[in-house]
Amino acid sequence: LKKYSGIMDTHNRIPLDLYERYNVKRGLRNSDGTGVLVGLTEIGDVHGYIMEEGDKIPVEGVLRYRGIDVKELSKGFQQEKRFGFEETIFLLLFGYLPSSEELSNFNEQIGDFRELPDQFTEDMILKAPSNNIMNKLARSVLAAYSFDDYAEDISVWNMLRQSVKLIAQLPTMAAYAYQAKAYYYMGKSLFIHKPDPSLSTAENLLLMIRPNRKYKDIEAEILDLSLVLHAEHGGGNNSAFSTHVVSSSGTDTYSAIAAAIGSLKGPLHGGANIQVARMMDDIKKHVSDWKSDKEISEYVTKILMKDAFDKKGLIYGMGHAVYTLSDPRAEILKEKARELAASSDRMDEFCLFEKIENLVPGIFQKLKNNDKPLCANVDFYSGFVYSILNIPEDLYTPIFAIARIPGWCAHRVEEIVSGGRIIRPAYKSVSPRVPYSSLKNR
Ligand code: MLT
Repeated sequence: LKKYSGIMDTHNRIPLDLYERYNVKRGLRNSDGTGVLVGLTEIGDVHGYIMEEGDKIPVEGVLRYRGIDVKELSKGFQQEKRFGFEETIFLLLFGYLPSSEELSNFNEQIGDFRELPDQFTEDMILKAPSNNIMNKLARSVLAAYSFDDYAEDISVWNMLRQSVKLIAQLPTMAAYAYQAKAYYYMGKSLFIHKPDPSLSTAENLLLMIRPNRKYKDIEAEILDLSLVLHAEHGGGNNSAFSTHVVSSSGTDTYSAIAAAIGSLKGPLHGGANIQVARMMDDIKKHVSDWKSDKEISEYVTKILMKDAFDKKGLIYGMGHAVYTLSDPRAEILKEKARELAASSDRMDEFCLFEKIENLVPGIFQKLKNNDKPLCANVDFYSGFVYSILNIPEDLYTPIFAIARIPGWCAHRVEEIVSGGRIIRPAYKSVSPRVPYSSLKNR
């Protein structure tokens, strides 16, 4: 192994010019995050590793949006006490950070789009039965197609217009979808407040779902930070990749975004934050001493041995397909979770999360007999943060979608502008045979 240093665009994307400059034969994107470059033959101002196929290197996680490290990005927003999500949307869609004039125009434009027509809310969201908010979101996005005279136009200006509109409206759709679920499936009557065009996405989310419209600035800032951290994760994550695949067929923006929502909903992708919450409820119930490493380890081992909570023996929120040593988003959210827990009397719970985070890698290595590092990913702490913010569990994954839609839109534009060819991966069927009787009697 030889070292190289330099900038990766996002965690797993190698800037195209590196291929040429350093005669990279091909880039690898292994599922465990190893194998960054193969066959790099010249060393210059880039750092990292030159790898042979099969080499494994643990990687510290770095995530960049359009070249800007999210750690730096989120610090800037925090120091200046501004909301950063709208700026991040601009960055992802247009490729650069806006001037203050551009940002204020952009915020106005988003504000103008926030509210949904009453007929849309009534017919497409409130009356449409579904006990799953992600499904309802996908359906609402598909329904928005019929309200757009230029729905099929795939020129860049039109895709960007559709993107800004959907980005602005997804939080409103989610709030009403939650109201409908609460009413029809949980027997609760909720009043959803209309969005305020002058407020940020984070503020609007809290305002719409809180009965008294009240929230503290710090709550909105932390939610905003979480939105920034979830906004994009490179083209290789499942939902962004779905956007590429679906967009490459030439279809419309609404169909592409609905497909991405369907992908994100999965428990192995954005749905993992709810799975973490359920898993933690289960652990809290079964582990009597939250300070006992022994008792926690035994229960976690049971989960991994497939005896307990989840049949697949997964610890949700632990491990990441690309990050091995650290997920920068989890690190940032963890610190916010610590602050929030300290100020809301939930430090015991935070310590339990932290203990599990620290114990799981060792238990995993022992069970699987390997020395693979394992880190907490962004889903591990996000649900805990939302629960302290009093956000209902049903909205955890929809909030991920609200955060990630700018990333999807940016990938869609990229695909249409630079892709050109339909994505059609090689596929070899394994032709499973299933006896019809397994269906007939159900
Ligand atoms: C994401 O943010 O999309 C997740 O970490 C999953 C992934 O990147 O594959």
